[in-house]
Amino acid sequence: MTFTLFHNCCAATMDPARTGVWGAVEDAAIVCRQGRIDWIGPMADLPAARAEGAQRADLAGRWVTPALVDCHTHLVFAGDRSGEFEQRLSGASYEAIARAGGGIRATMTATRAASIETLTAAAEARIRLLMRGGAASVEIKSGYGLDPDSERAMLIAAGEAARRAGVRVRRTFLGLHALPPEYEGRREAYVHLMAHEVLPALHAEGLVDAVDAFCETIGFTAAETQTLFEAAARLGLPVRLHAEQLSDQGGAALAARYGALSADHLEYLSEAGARAMAEAGTAAVLLPGAFYALKETRRPPVELLRSLNVPMAVATDLNPGSSPLVSPVLAMNMACILFGLTPAEALAGMTREGARAMGVADETGVLREGLAADLAVWEVSRPAEIVYWIGHPGPERLIIAGQEAPA
Ligand code: NIG
Ligand code: FE
Repeated sequence: MTFTLFHNCCAATMDPARTGVWGAVEDAAIVCRQGRIDWIGPMADLPAARAEGAQRADLAGRWVTPALVDCHTHLVFAGDRSGEFEQRLSGASYEAIARAGGGIRATMTATRAASIETLTAAAEARIRLLMRGGAASVEIKSGYGLDPDSERAMLIAAGEAARRAGVRVRRTFLGLHALPPEYEGRREAYVHLMAHEVLPALHAEGLVDAVDAFCETIGFTAAETQTLFEAAARLGLPVRLHAEQLSDQGGAALAARYGALSADHLEYLSEAGARAMAEAGTAAVLLPGAFYALKETRRPPVELLRSLNVPMAVATDLNPGSSPLVSPVLAMNMACILFGLTPAEALAGMTREGARAMGVADETGVLREGLAADLAVWEVSRPAEIVYWIGHPGPERLIIAGQEAPA
């Protein structure tokens, strides 16, 4: 399918250059050529020459949106933490489980023991679940290896799983996710190893697109995070940050100082942190799956972020501990119900703003001429309906760079 005219459809382009929150085009025509959107607009305005020779695809009145962008996941891992789910249901806190050696460290042990092929196969299956929910672009973090070889294995598995599934991927180095047991009492040495040896080596192999850290009492301090960010800056790599998830560590302001693509979670974000993000153009990535699964009661300050025009992305945070959420559609619904986003903000968060947070806004995230032909086709009567169903499996069709993806 290299040259196609999609017609008899409505488009929620999510393009701010068009009018309304959905950037909607009723009775739309979308011409896709060589994996890109070659023309989009009202069918009545389509110049005949632009579609001459195209294969015609009648979408029977369906709504077309940009394919979804899941900009924050930890989907490469081995092992099973459903036992921790049971522990939390009986009252144990996420922090207490982590401090007792469970949590990220439990997944680290299983991930270190797994082969690259085992990690790849498990990751591919999870990517396919996200695709079923409409995702064509997925960010994947390391951070369960926590030693040079295992972090490398995770990033290789992430790339190979994405290639097999056929999604666009960006890989993020999250070496500062948790202190591995062999570095207990030697924090500085671990931070040094990750910032000055592992990151440059993995970057030299072409395995890293961005750098992230878990800036938290059970993770790493702002000063330790800064050491990593300095190393990222020297390599010219963009940074992102797990910030203010369980407490206010000043992480968002730190991320903003480094011109971060995003600061993520943000339940404990201060007004100063939000203002710093606004000034730096750092996106807020809202992760309602972790909020829900940890039964968090403090919501990220959505009204403040909105009033400051901080771009708000929404992602699954797919991971084995705090957010075993495999549905981008449900993440959008949760962002509305739990955090107070409008349906249009939620869809923008999983398309346009997700692409911004992931660093792929020049490729995907809105339906616009020149960008990738990444389309999701939904059997709904209005775009808000995409976000309204709870437990809806996803779009009827997913097209990635002009190619039909298996539903
Ligand atoms: O985004 N916050 C830190 N990292 C993940 C959780 C990882 C885990 O529990 O395995 C998160 O919530
Ligand atoms: Fe995360």
